[in-house]
Amino acid sequence: MSEPLEIQFAALSAAPTGTLALLAGPEFTLASTARGLDERTKGGLKKAARAADFTGKAKTSIEILAPAGTDAVRLLLIGAGRPSKELDRLLLGGYVLSQINARKGEAASLIAELADPGEASPDALAADLAFGALLRSYAFKKYRTTRKPEDGTDEEPRDGLRRLTIHCAKPDSAAKVFASRKAVAEGVFLARDLVNEPANMLGPVEFAERVRDLSSAGVEVEVLDEDQLRALNMGALLAVGQGSERPSRVVVMQWHGAKSKRTKTLAFVGKGVCFDTGGISMKPAGGMEDMKGDMGGAACVAGLMLALARRKAAVNAVGLVGLVENMPSGKAQRPGDIVTSMSGQTIEVLNTDAEGRLVLADVLWYAQQRFNPRFVIDLATLTGAIIVALGKEHAGLFANDDRLAAELAAAGEATGEKVWRMPLGKAYDKLIDSKNADMKNIGGRHAGAITGAQFVQRFIKDTPWAHLDVAGAAMDSARNDINPSWGSGWGVRLLDRLIWDNYEKVEK
Ligand code: BES
Ligand code: MN
Ligand code: ZN
Repeated sequence: MSEPLEIQFAALSAAPTGTLALLAGPEFTLASTARGLDERTKGGLKKAARAADFTGKAKTSIEILAPAGTDAVRLLLIGAGRPSKELDRLLLGGYVLSQINARKGEAASLIAELADPGEASPDALAADLAFGALLRSYAFKKYRTTRKPEDGTDEEPRDGLRRLTIHCAKPDSAAKVFASRKAVAEGVFLARDLVNEPANMLGPVEFAERVRDLSSAGVEVEVLDEDQLRALNMGALLAVGQGSERPSRVVVMQWHGAKSKRTKTLAFVGKGVCFDTGGISMKPAGGMEDMKGDMGGAACVAGLMLALARRKAAVNAVGLVGLVENMPSGKAQRPGDIVTSMSGQTIEVLNTDAEGRLVLADVLWYAQQRFNPRFVIDLATLTGAIIVALGKEHAGLFANDDRLAAELAAAGEATGEKVWRMPLGKAYDKLIDSKNADMKNIGGRHAGAITGAQFVQRFIKDTPWAHLDVAGAAMDSARNDINPSWGSGWGVRLLDRLIWDNYEKVEK
């Protein structure tokens, strides 16, 4: 990420700097600060709005340059619609940022005031707008040395805006509320960065090194190398990485934030295939570059751990990522090979491109055996089939526990990182039985996302478990007002919310 946007809070009475953004509600309703400005401009705002047919509808805006009677050089009237839910306010904040960023200037002020704020307190409104603006401000420009955004070659925000001041009734308490939102944004940005990074720069070893830095945030980080993985009998994970020149890694990240020592830990497991060529069952060339994002599940787990640590979440959580590169070579595994997983179960590898499940098999087994968690949630860009089924609007949710599934669905609605529950069942499970081993790693043409999930479930003991197939959500996902990036960082806000709503407030 380039320099992050600096966000600060100030009183409504404080003097604004740079572009001044104001919110207008439906039928052009203005809150008191904006009304005051309208008076000082002798009804200039109202006149301009009428001339432009601007009514305050969401996702509309008008610009008024150098309005007489004020010091502002540029005034933006932003349609707020009726942002009744938290997510509406985040999206509004993102839209505001996009409108400011489309114009010149290093600094801007937003008056976080609505004529009809609904149930949102002034500080919640300000903090939510700030969070949305921050999420929108992300850009991955690390490798662009000459091409300037001003060339108009893309829609990414320009480099211009550095500082956004949010004016509100209670700036101090808004800043406090925002602090934990900002922590989550840090996690989202880490996940986006990891997914956007090209595979030549980010292999398993480099990913592990990036994650090691989380120790400075208070996360306990252990990196397991191949000798250690062999000692643990992680034969399935190692088989995926064996064709690559780059060694595999498993990283364990622990956050101890619960008040009571005895609280069971929550476990999160991520598929971290740093590049997926398909191996000997190689993928076609077209679009293969996208497979640099096949570690989106692992990126989310790393981002979540950073978010929890930064906001000092009152929970014990462990994140585990299986990091490999799936390459064809003289050492690569072959279709038909039979490997033994850490669980002891044997797997006939009929397609080396169904590699993510092999990685999850060992890391999930290890996570349960070592941590005996309260639940385990895995995230994986596991199947193209889930994109066929759900597109990019929902991630596929598979679970052996209705309560956990419902909690995830609710967190999805609240954050906009939505999940859709898919079925599991004996008949699907049968499809991965093998004559030659305990199971095979593909199930035939039908129900590809489900047979993938059934495979993963064979490595779950008695633990409540949810599997999120994020192939459509983690990379090249739907862009929106709070996600301008190819790597979306999907799941960090979802899981942070799941924890905040259900596993933190009271130690149940
Ligand atoms: N990483 C892919 C899944 C994927 C596809 C992620 C498109 C993101 C976008 C996974 O390893 C894979 O190759 N799955 C195969 C499974 C098949 C061989 C059973 C697939 O989906 O085709
Ligand atoms: Mn694959
Ligand atoms: Zn893959």
